[in-house]
This record gives sequence, structure tokens and C-alpha cells, in this order.
Amino acid sequence: MANLTNSIPMRDSYCGDVARTHIDKPITLCGWVDRRRDHGGVIFIDLRDRSGIVQVVFDPDAGEHFTLADKVRGEYVLQVKGVVRARSEATINSDMATGEIEVYAQALQVLNQSETPPFQLDNHTEVGEDIRLKYRYLDLRRQEMQAKLLLRGRVTSAIRSFLDREGFLDIETPILTRATPEGARDYLVPSRTHDGSFFALPQSPQLFKQLLMVAGFDRYYQIAKCFRDEDLRADRQPEFTQVDIETSFMGQDEIMASAERLICEVFSNSLDVELTQFPRIDYATAMRDYGSDKPDLRIPLTLVDVNDLMASVDFKVFNGPANDPDGRVAALKVPGGASISRKEIDGYTKFVSIYGAKGLAWVKVNDIGQGLAGLQSPILKFMPDDTVLALMKRLEVADGDIVFFGADKSPIVNEALGALRCKLGQDLDLYTCQWAPLWVVDFPMFEKDDRGGWTALHHPFTAPSCSLQELQADPGAALSQAYDMVLNGTELGGGSLRIHNADMQSAVFRLLDISEVEANEKFGFLLDALKYGAPPHGGLAFGLDRLIMLMTGASSIRDVIAFPKTQTAACVLTEAPGEVDAKQLRELHIKLRNNEKKDPAA
Ligand code: AMO
Ligand code: AMP
Repeated sequence: MANLTNSIPMRDSYCGDVARTHIDKPITLCGWVDRRRDHGGVIFIDLRDRSGIVQVVFDPDAGEHFTLADKVRGEYVLQVKGVVRARSEATINSDMATGEIEVYAQALQVLNQSETPPFQLDNHTEVGEDIRLKYRYLDLRRQEMQAKLLLRGRVTSAIRSFLDREGFLDIETPILTRATPEGARDYLVPSRTHDGSFFALPQSPQLFKQLLMVAGFDRYYQIAKCFRDEDLRADRQPEFTQVDIETSFMGQDEIMASAERLICEVFSNSLDVELTQFPRIDYATAMRDYGSDKPDLRIPLTLVDVNDLMASVDFKVFNGPANDPDGRVAALKVPGGASISRKEIDGYTKFVSIYGAKGLAWVKVNDIGQGLAGLQSPILKFMPDDTVLALMKRLEVADGDIVFFGADKSPIVNEALGALRCKLGQDLDLYTCQWAPLWVVDFPMFEKDDRGGWTALHHPFTAPSCSLQELQADPGAALSQAYDMVLNGTELGGGSLRIHNADMQSAVFRLLDISEVEANEKFGFLLDALKYGAPPHGGLAFGLDRLIMLMTGASSIRDVIAFPKTQTAACVLTEAPGEVDAKQLRELHIKLRNNEKKDPAA
């Protein structure tokens, strides 16, 4: 074994950093065996560390070291001493960062052996995610995964550097706390010292960061772990990280500008991408034009309202929603889409049914010069000719286009056609640019829940744009001072100006049907704090994992988290969550309902 106690450095360089400048110089490297090849008496070892791979060559002149090199296997940990030399013209590998050089080995020490890994580290495509997650420490050795986590590290460092420079203070907030309402279920932690009581893990540091503003810290940030027990999707984890920011004495525009500069700097530093335009779109326009409050602006398709034209057609599917105040009939024109086959249309019809759409009407424009005769569609027979022509005029159709239609309650049409818009963008590769950031602003304060009551569209601490009187007079019409940053159809972050007045906060709780007793019990500390000189304040939080996911082009949020949870919110590596013994349960005053445990001490 290597002597790990002496003070001579174990290595001189990372493998991936060995370059032409090292030629003819001695070098000591450490790393893992990525590959070993025996080429008729010469042994090549690709030595790997987090920086990359370098080729090491052993020939029989290396004596006992050559013999040892013959015995090493994949994933052995080696220390190699040798001399860097240029590769001959014929053996230069331009696909490899270190492909112009190699290390001519003089000494080899095996620092540790390895069993044969359960999967090949150079090719994961065939490997199931469960096995990758079970042996995550091996999966993370793969260069693709290393690159993602290295970028994540660079990004958090750029974020800290920006925020430190701008006078933000990094302050930690508790993990064992009370519920912080962000709309998901809480993760609860039973208290041993308070029988029958539970901590909640924070869904976000929202309330604490507001209290820090009341305390006068003025500019706060934290790279904060958040916990939400919600249904998992490709871009959601139960435990995720926010870049959480709060400021005092800054207006909405100032906060948004500062957040925009932060994201621009991160993209510039870490990806060499200059993001310039962050258009602002109000919520109502986003829903009207894109059917979504997180539109993907890389796709040049928009939804067009045709309620007025469809109100008197003799087709119930359309005239019903067209005459319903909560209904919508919308069209989505896809230039060049007439080549989409019937089979593909059936596929898209199935796709929109996921969102509750009962069908997907369409019109193909074969030759608009021929008027109605140049159109092909299963629904035109239900409409008067002049309505069809007015429709085509409004949609400004051209030969080769297809127009899809959705008709239903507005939320169903928006979701279905909004999702179809994104799917068509992807399937037909309609993207006009690589990055399309924007702000969505002017959200409604509230939306109706299933029982007809109001729920907060963001969280209950978001300030309305109107006065208390206006809010109370017509809560449904009130807009909030909230803003979401969206990138390529993903909500990257969101925030708002907060309510800093106890009366307004109480009124919002009342509108949300939170009684005074409940408000005091759950948020009494906030209501109290608002009475002691709370400054005007606001902020936002970015989803760090989502940011990295977008920056690395990963298709799953799990690929940018070192140790993520599975779709069922479990960790297959540590086998968490796990059972606990009866003694622990007893100390926590917990009795399991279905899975009675024998307590040896009982
Ligand atoms: P919000 O709930 O919008 O706001 O969360 C902010 C951002 O966090 C990310 N995010 C998630 N990422 C991964 N997995 C999840 N389960 C998950 N949930 C949210 C998203 C989202 O935009 N306290 C407010 C912020 C504020 O008002 O300042 C909040 O938490 O990218
Ligand atoms: P039907 O009369 O049900 O055969 O429908 C005629 C056409 O209208 C078909 O192309 C259906 O896919 C379409 N369609 C039916 N319901 C809807 C709906 N709610 N929105 C849009 N198109 C629909």
C-alpha cells in the first residue's frame, strides 16, 4: 500500500490536465483504471479522475511494474509515475482532450483493487436507473455525471460570488420547523421531547426569510434545502435545493432586474451563453397565447381564440364551450403541418386526452386558392362556408398548414393545446433559438379551489397590486405583485413582493378561509412580527436543480443531484426510508397502526 502519511504529494496533476507543456517532464498521477488494453507486449491503461482521462503506456522495460500493470483490472486505483511524451502523428486521438500526449510509465503502485463493477461505466444506456442509483458512487464516476456535478459546483460558486458582491448575506434557517405553506404535503418529524408533537421540514425558508427582513438584514440569500411531499415528475424531487433570496426596500422591477443579472452572469460564466432578452408577459396573455403560465418561447406557435366565430355553428362540441363563460374554443396553427399523417393526428388526439380533451379537431390547408375545396377536415361540414372562410382569414393560413382545435372548459383547452404546442415544437423541431427566458407577471392573487373557495396562486404572503378595499370587494379580480422566471418552458424561479402589513395579511388569511384562531396558531409569529416595523420587502427563489437540469440538457432532475430519490420518493442506495426499532418508536410516542412491533422493553 502507498505510504499516505509522508508529506510528498501523492500526485502532481489531474489526469485530464496533462498537456503538451508537460512533454519530457516527469509526472505522478493518481486515478482509476478506465480501460486496460494489451497490444502485443505493450499495455495501455486509460487512467481516469474527475478531470478526464490520460493514456499511460507500460512496456516490458518497466520490469516488475510492467508485470503488475498486466494484473490491474477496471476500476483499480493506481498511482503511476512516468514521463510525458508526445504521441506519434498516427496515434494522436483528437476525440480525447489529452489525445496528443501519453505518459510513458516507469513505476506503478496499486492503491486499491476493485471488484468487477455491476455495470460498465463507459456505457450506461443499457443500465436501469435503479441499479445506477443503488451503486450511485460508481454511476457518479462516469464522465457524463462528473461533468454535470462539476457544472453544478461552478454554478453555485458563481451564484455565491454574485450575491456576495451585491451585498447579500448568507444566513441559514432551520430545518426542524413548523409548516411553511407552499401547497405541498409536509414531511413531518416526531418530537421525542414533546409527546404527540411534530416538526415539519421546510417547504421553503419563506417565513424565516421574511422574519430576517423584519430583523433588518436587508439582503439575504441561502442555498437552501426544501422538502415537499408531492407527486414526483421529471422535474420534481421531494428534497430539492432553492437559491432563496429576500430583500428590503427594493421594488418589483429592481428585484427582477437583480435576479435577471444573476442568471445572465451564471450562464455567461458557466456556459459562455449571453442571455439578453427577458420579455415580460402578463399571466392573462400567457394563458391566452400559449395556454400556459410557463410558455416555451422557443416555439413560434400561438393559440388563437375563435369563440366568437364558433358561437353559432351547428356543432355542439364547439358551440357549447363558445357560449359558456368558462369555456374556450381555440385554434393552433402549425405552418407546414399538413404533412402530419392521420395516424400521427390520432397519436396527438390521444396525447391531448391525457389533459382531459375529448377530441382534437383539425383542418388541413391543401390549396387555399381553391377556397373551401382546398381544405380537408372532419368538422367543416358542421360550419357555414362564410364562418370557415372567416376562420381561415383570422388564422392567416397558408398552403401546407394544419390547424388544430380545442373546445372545452378553458383550463382543459389551455392545458391540452398548451401541451400539444410544446409536443409539436419538439416533434417537428420548430425551435427558433436555444434559450428563451422570460418573466411572467400580473398573476391573479387567487384561484377557485374544488370547493368553490379561494386558494393563493403563489403563497398567502404575496402582496396584491390593489388596495385592501379593492381586494375585499372583488378577490377574483385582484392581481398580485408576483413574478415567475421561465426558461424554455420550465418555471425556473418565482417570487413576489410580500405583505408587510398585519391588517392586509389577516385579510388575505380570511379570504383564504383561514380563521383568526388558525391564523394565530399557525402564523401568529408572522402576524406579530408584521406589527413591529416590518419593512417593505420581497424576493424570490430559483430551483437550483431545475436550473442545472436546463443548463446540462439533462432529461431528468435526478441526473443533476448526487444522491436523488426515486419516483416513489425512496433512496435505493441507503434503502431510506427504513423501519425503525420499537424502542425508538416508543421514545417518539408513536404506535404503528398496521405494522405492530414488539417492543422488547415493553
Ligand atoms: P416556489 O414554490 O415557486 O416558490 O419554488 C421556487 C422554485 O423552486 C423550484 N421547485 C422545485 N424544484 C424541484 N423539485 C420540487 N419539488 C420543486 N418545487 C419547487 C422551482 C420553483 O420555481 N417561497 C417561494 C419563493 C418566494 O416567494 O420567494 C417558493 O418556494 O424551480
Ligand atoms: P365527433 O363529432 O365526436 O366525431 O368529432 C368530430 C371531430 O371533432 C373529431 O376530429 C374530434 O376529434 C373533434 N372533437 C371532438 N371533441 C372535441 C373537443 N372537445 N375539442 C376539439 N375537438 C374535438
